[in-house]
Amino acid sequence: DWNPGNVIADQVAAIQAQVGSGKVICGLSGGVDSAVAAALVHEAVGDQLVCIFVDHGLLREGERRQVEEDYVKSTGVRLVTVDARERFLSALAGVSDPEQKRKIIGREFIRTFEQAQADLIAEAAADGDPIRFLVQGTLYPDVVESGGGSGTANIKSHHNVGGLPEDLQFELVEPLRALFKDEVRAIGRELGLPEEIVGRQPFPGPGLGIRIVGEVTFERLELLRQADAIVRAELTAAGLDAEIWQCPVVLLADVRSVGVQGDGRTYGHPIVLRPVSSEDAMTADWTRLPYDVLARISNRITNEVSGVNRVVLDVTSKPPGTIEWE
Ligand code: XMP
Repeated sequence: DWNPGNVIADQVAAIQAQVGSGKVICGLSGGVDSAVAAALVHEAVGDQLVCIFVDHGLLREGERRQVEEDYVKSTGVRLVTVDARERFLSALAGVSDPEQKRKIIGREFIRTFEQAQADLIAEAAADGDPIRFLVQGTLYPDVVESGGGSGTANIKSHHNVGGLPEDLQFELVEPLRALFKDEVRAIGRELGLPEEIVGRQPFPGPGLGIRIVGEVTFERLELLRQADAIVRAELTAAGLDAEIWQCPVVLLADVRSVGVQGDGRTYGHPIVLRPVSSEDAMTADWTRLPYDVLARISNRITNEVSGVNRVVLDVTSKPPGTIEWE
């Protein structure tokens, strides 16, 4: 019978055999896969592992704290956080095109990560103990997909924060290669990781950057972060997390509409709710959320998030709509 305790024991032994007394590096994204992969490696080799977390400023509310505090507390992992918020904002200034944004975010992410990596490598080399291993949270479906050569067209240039380009100077450590997502979550729970990370719904690598239709600015990110936090809190409070695959919250920054609030006219931006049900994100249906939940979300966003005067619901399935708006 499959049981997380046995998988952990097997993987810990395998990692120890592969790595020996070598030093290991791992990028954390805030998502499940990299978090569980790093926790397994830490279980196996302790402080031979160093993790890097890039805060690109496109994270949701609380995500950095979940990694820096909750994750570190529950695992004991040695963590280096790179605050790259300014860097990403400058690189994205004036850019509205979705593919352009994705390319910029992907490029800046790799550069930022490589810089942090180079610093750690230099430090380790000075100690006479070079870093030779890189952890990746590759899952079984990723292995099948990349080996399958199915030839499907790439609709969006997906960028995965966990999936950095294969760096030839490193030997890869991939403790999740034989596992499915549900199994990875079970292992994460067994290892005592925070539920916000282990149970997290899919969230794209480019983060909130592709949920602002229009240019990405600091103010817009703040506004979207608030709206997104309200939606997540209300869906969780209503017990709907298991029913929903994910619910992107999108700011239409280039659209304004007239509203009225108190005794004044407003001219604000709409927020779009995109709740979807899906098995694998390849196809999806829009989730029929209860009206009272929608009403609560709408009231809270328009009352609490200044600059937003309208909340709209996306009722498009995939296809023809994709899950994300960009
Ligand atoms: P779409 O919008 O293509 O999204 O229907 C399908 C799934 O993929 C997620 N997504 C991404 N994940 N990097 C990621 O790691 C990306 O660049 C990216 N773009 C979309 C999306 O949230 C959905 O789960």
